[in-house]
Amino acid sequence: MADTYILGIESSCDETGAAVVRSGEKIVSNVVASQIAMHQPYGGVVPELASREHLRAIVPVVRRALADAGQTYQSLDALAVTQGPGLAGALLVGISYAKALAFALDKPLIAVNHLEGHIHAVLLEERQKGGFSGAGRELNFPVLALVVSGGHTHLYLAEQSGANWTYRNIGRTRDDAAGEAFDKVAKLLGLGYPGGPVIDRLSSHGDPAAVKFSLSQIKHRDRRDSPTLSQETRQEWGTRQQFDFSYSGIKTAVLRYVEIHGMKSSIDARRRALAEISQPAMEDYLAHCDRQALDLVASFQRAMVEDLVSKTLAAARACNVATLFVTGGVAANQELRQHFELGAAQEGLPVYFPSRPLSTDNAAMIAAAAYPKFLARDFAAMDFSAEAGLALR
Ligand code: KG4
Ligand code: ZN
Repeated sequence: MADTYILGIESSCDETGAAVVRSGEKIVSNVVASQIAMHQPYGGVVPELASREHLRAIVPVVRRALADAGQTYQSLDALAVTQGPGLAGALLVGISYAKALAFALDKPLIAVNHLEGHIHAVLLEERQKGGFSGAGRELNFPVLALVVSGGHTHLYLAEQSGANWTYRNIGRTRDDAAGEAFDKVAKLLGLGYPGGPVIDRLSSHGDPAAVKFSLSQIKHRDRRDSPTLSQETRQEWGTRQQFDFSYSGIKTAVLRYVEIHGMKSSIDARRRALAEISQPAMEDYLAHCDRQALDLVASFQRAMVEDLVSKTLAAARACNVATLFVTGGVAANQELRQHFELGAAQEGLPVYFPSRPLSTDNAAMIAAAAYPKFLARDFAAMDFSAEAGLALR
């Protein structure tokens, strides 16, 4: 079959992305314009600003992706865009632009679920390396995928049906997503935004056993016990297993530790000092972190990693899966990868991650996830819209 070139567009949160992927397996260009610097002073993503920045960035980002790929609008076979989940206003920018392009060019348009994109980032990574293509390196189902990012901590059981995949959610966070916990704890400790990458790098300088976060601080009640659940839902859930996460407790535990140990003034000093530096380097963070702060950061990360790994592996055992995928922004975390590699090896379970650039939001994963839909001619009608809470099935 002839090569298929799909232009992917991603604008669900704070990155404007465009990428061209050939036949679902080769990235020919991948451009990401990050808004992080703009949201940094606010300590998180401001939805209105995100939409405005996407509007500003989308045309040059798409042009750059085409130029880098040596493609033209006319030479593309199809366009793909993130439909949701994400920020409604931000999603709409990508969708409106993709619709206009598809209409003007008379090309098919494919709507992609952002979470399926994260899962396909893993496939794309392996296919780029020649994996999952037969020759003894095929992919075995069922796959358990942990999507762990700023907005999600979700476990999906994936099966293949023809070229397409089907998904069943078997676990999710009851409150904060894991990436959100990294971001909130970093903010609390005066380390700026986003917190994940900074905590990741600082953690190797602290003692992960210094602060014990007891499991009860990050444990939660089973969702099935919730008094607000309907009888039907309770019965439905009762027949299948749920593996839930909860990360708002550990954030409170860090706050309590900070208060008890009188760390407030040193945190304020650090926040002020780092705010003076436009792009703080690791040496700057280290120069403004004492041992107590480094130990707290390392212990927090260790608790997060152990919880994510142990719950995911418990789900993998219970569902008897053949393969494990770990993806989303938090999958970039060094310690998380190491613990997953070790834990999965002990279970005899193959585990796959995207490369770092493909872990965080990007459009290559959207173009890759669109390819099976292109083959199935699963095209979007021109009246589809953004779905902030789009579920993955
Ligand atoms: O997937 P992503 O780019 O956007 C969402 O869909 O949310 O994930 C962003 C999240 C942020 O919370 C960020 O702090 C976290 O991923 N993150 C990390 C690392 N890199 C990004 N968390 C831990 N360690 C990292 N190295
Ligand atoms: Zn994402």
